[in-house]
Amino acid sequence: MQLQEYISLRPYNTFGIDVAATSFLEINDISDLEGIEADTKKLIIGGGNNLLLTKPVDALVLHNKLKGITVEKENDTHIWLRVAAGEIWHELVLYVVNKGWGGVENLALIPGTVGAAPIQNIGAYGTEIRETIDSVTFWYWSEKKLLSFSNRECEFGYRDSIFKNQMRDKFFITSVVLKLDKVPKLNTSYGAIEQELAHMGVTEPTVKAVAYAVIHIRTDKLPDPAQIGNAGSFFKNPSLSKSSFDKLLAMYPKIPFYPVNDSWIKVPAAWLIEQCGWKGYRIGDVGVHTKQALVLVNYGHAHGQEIWDLSGKIVQSVHERFGIQLEREVQVW
Ligand code: FAD
Ligand code: EPU
Repeated sequence: MQLQEYISLRPYNTFGIDVAATSFLEINDISDLEGIEADTKKLIIGGGNNLLLTKPVDALVLHNKLKGITVEKENDTHIWLRVAAGEIWHELVLYVVNKGWGGVENLALIPGTVGAAPIQNIGAYGTEIRETIDSVTFWYWSEKKLLSFSNRECEFGYRDSIFKNQMRDKFFITSVVLKLDKVPKLNTSYGAIEQELAHMGVTEPTVKAVAYAVIHIRTDKLPDPAQIGNAGSFFKNPSLSKSSFDKLLAMYPKIPFYPVNDSWIKVPAAWLIEQCGWKGYRIGDVGVHTKQALVLVNYGHAHGQEIWDLSGKIVQSVHERFGIQLEREVQVW
C-alpha cells in the first residue's frame, strides 16, 4: 500500500481516539521496512489494543500486516511455529488449540497481534507468553537487518521485556517462534477456569476446552472494545514487599492478594482503585468501567488527554490512600 498522509487513527486504536497521523504506511512485507531510516520518528501499531493517543501523531505510523505461519521444526513432544508478527493473536490461539497443541490456551481472546505479544509479555489466567516463546525476530533499524533474541535475551518480566526498556524504539518485531507442547500439560490452577469447566460439563479437559472456558470468563468480565473504547487493564498490578503488605493487611483484612515469591506479594490494582471510589465513575465521555475498575473507557468522543488526566487522578488518590504508586500498563503517545 502507498504512503497515506493526514489520516485519522481512530480505526487503529481500541480507545477509539480520533487523532491524525502525518503519514501512515502498511507493512505487508519485510522489504517495506528496508527504506525507512533509523532516525525517522515512527509509531508502530499492531491492533492498537494497548495504546493511548493523547495528541496528533507527528510521525510515520507503521501498521503491521505481516502474515504467515510456518513449522520451523518438530519432534515427538514439541512443535516450533514461526508466526509472522501481523497475525491476530486470538486467531493463532484457535488454530493451535484446534491442532491439540498446548501452551497458549489460557491466553485465548487477548486482543492484538502476535508481534506485540512479547513486548509486554502478555499474560492471563495463570500463564504468560514467555513460557511458550522460543525466540523473537525483529528488524533492527540502526543496522538495517533482521536479528533474533532467544527467550532468555528477551528479559521477560510481569508485563515487561527488553523491548520496553533498552531496546525501546530500536526495532520492529517481524515474527515470533513459539514452542508448543504436543503432549499438553494443562494449567487450570486459576479458580475461575475450574469452575467454568465444571459449568461447561467438562470432566476431562483438553486444550480446546480450557481455551473456551477462558473465552467465556473473559467475555463476562471485560468490555469489548467494539462496543466501548478501552485498552484492557490501564494499570499494572503492584507488587509489595512482605513487610509493606503485612501493614496493609492489618488495616484491610479483606484485601485480595497473590504471593509472587517469598518476598513479594501482588495486590489487584482494581481493588485499590475501587476502594478509592472510582469504579463506575464518569465525567463526559471518559470513565472507569462499571464492572472492572482497572479498565478506563471512552464512552464516545473522549480525547486521549482526558483519559490521561483521569489516570493521573487515580494514581494520585491510590497513592494518598494506600501509599502505593500505580504504574500504567498502556503505552502512551
Ligand atoms: P498495539 O496496541 O498496537 O501496540 C502496543 C505497543 O507495542 C505499542 O507501543 C506499539 O508501538 C508496540 N508494537 C506493536 N507491534 C509492534 C511490532 N511488531 N514491533 C515493534 N513494536 C510493536 N494484555 C494482557 O497481557 N493480558 C490480557 O488479558 C489483556 N486483555 C486485554 C483485554 C482487552 C479488552 C484489551 C483492549 C486489551 C487487553 N490486553 C491484555 C492488552 C493487549 O491486548 C496486549 O498488550 C496486546 O499484546 C496488544 O497488541 P496490539 O497488536 O494491539 O498492540
Ligand atoms: N477486583 C476488584 N474490583 C474490580 C475488579 C477486580 O476489587 O472492579 C479484584 C477482585 O478481588 C479480583 C481481583 O481484583 O479477584 C483480580 O481481578 P481479575 O481476576 O479481573 O484480574 P485483574 O488483576 O484485574 C489481571 C490482568 C488482566 C488479565 C486478568 C486475568 C493485569 C494488569 N491485568 O487483571 O490482563 O486478563 O488478570 O488473568 O495484570 C491486561 O493486561 O490488559 C489484562 C486485561
